Amino acid sequence: MSGKLQAVRGMNDLLPEATGTWQRVEETLRRVGQVYGYREIRTPVVEKTELFRQSIGEQTDIVEKEMYTFADSGGELLTLRPEGTASCVRAGVQHGLFHNRQERLWYMGPMFRRERPQKGRYRQFHQFGVEAIGWPGPDVDAEVILIGERIWRELGVEGVRLELNTLGSPVSRARYRASLIDYLAARREALDGDSWRRLESNPLRILDSKVEATREIVAGAPDILDFLDDEARAHFDGLRALLDKAGVDYRVNSRLVRGLDYYTSTVFEWTTDRLGAQGTVCAGGRYDGLIEQRGGRPTPAAGFATGLERLIELLVQQDAAPARPPFDIYLARLGAEAEKRALVLAETLRNAGLSVIYNCGGGKLKNQLRRADASGAELALILGEEELAGGVVQIKFLRREQPQETVAVDQLEGWLGSVIGDR
Ligand code: HAM
Repeated sequence: MSGKLQAVRGMNDLLPEATGTWQRVEETLRRVGQVYGYREIRTPVVEKTELFRQSIGEQTDIVEKEMYTFADSGGELLTLRPEGTASCVRAGVQHGLFHNRQERLWYMGPMFRRERPQKGRYRQFHQFGVEAIGWPGPDVDAEVILIGERIWRELGVEGVRLELNTLGSPVSRARYRASLIDYLAARREALDGDSWRRLESNPLRILDSKVEATREIVAGAPDILDFLDDEARAHFDGLRALLDKAGVDYRVNSRLVRGLDYYTSTVFEWTTDRLGAQGTVCAGGRYDGLIEQRGGRPTPAAGFATGLERLIELLVQQDAAPARPPFDIYLARLGAEAEKRALVLAETLRNAGLSVIYNCGGGKLKNQLRRADASGAELALILGEEELAGGVVQIKFLRREQPQETVAVDQLEGWLGSVIGDR
């Protein structure tokens, strides 16, 4: 069939108008990772399917219905990564990164989930995540929460709130689970189909249901915080004390459970009202069992991931999206000799750290200046036969009212330095 092909639904092109903002946000995220002592890790976008099945959990929405899974031509079952934690753990165990040592990691890149696309929910989206591997105490939970808060502050994102909960220790969670099943089973008839199905396999997820009738039942369900054992309570209280001390606002939400099975103990989400149904900007928690489950030694771990599309949408709504830096110079040239000289001049100016768009393809001065204007450059430099003969260039200010100037070529770098300054 002929006709124009479109991108896959829920997978977005980022056009040049948008990539400047993305680059600025990515720079901030990298810098924040750096200032907390985290190191970047890059893992493949494709992994063996069983990694996600086993790590995220067979009964989760992601594994049940959202993974892009395919058999490659050798018959191996592969999946486009739906998240980054499982891959970090796989890579760390494979390369002995966590062997007798602690690691702070960050990553950034595309993730894939075949969800129903809507604003803020895409099939290819981007996460920035951190994973702190090897620390059992609440101090590292507090650290990853502070990283999130610093990201909102540095980007100027307003109105995100922290919700906090703990899933307790494996023992206290098992006791809670049993009590929750008892409570829900007694009200089985009133549950929606999905929750009914989850009753035995993943009852905690029912707490998260969006179905009104189920929510009403959940409202009266036992509270996980009443089941904590001493160790789990001490961890949670310790984290709360650290957050209080650091001045981080949060709300304890004992119904917060998260949609991935690997979590243990602390879980949290940063949410906003400004993104409609997709209000979770960032989410994470502890996953103390995952590394051992993946074949490593028992190793505690905590982390989070934030969705870049949602972050950037918030910034755009606030009119606070960082713009791309403008280009410095558009170099217009007229005549065969000037063409050669201008190409060399452009390289000299680039050596000095300036961005220079060279007018490829010639054309009338008027057209070249129109392109200069459209390019977003600050200045147009004009080099014609007359300028060549006089050893000068003409300079036109494209973004402000200021008379054109003539500057000697041998003084050009200094002159530009004072006009454009450091960027
Ligand atoms: P998650 O809650 O599945 O957690 O995703 C984290 C964040 O990614 C969400 O809060 C949201 O901002 C963004 N996100 C998720 N799905 C989509 C989508 N379809 N479209 C746009 N944005 C989306 C995890 O992925 C865990 N690995 C987080 C973690 C790291 N926990 C510990 N370490």
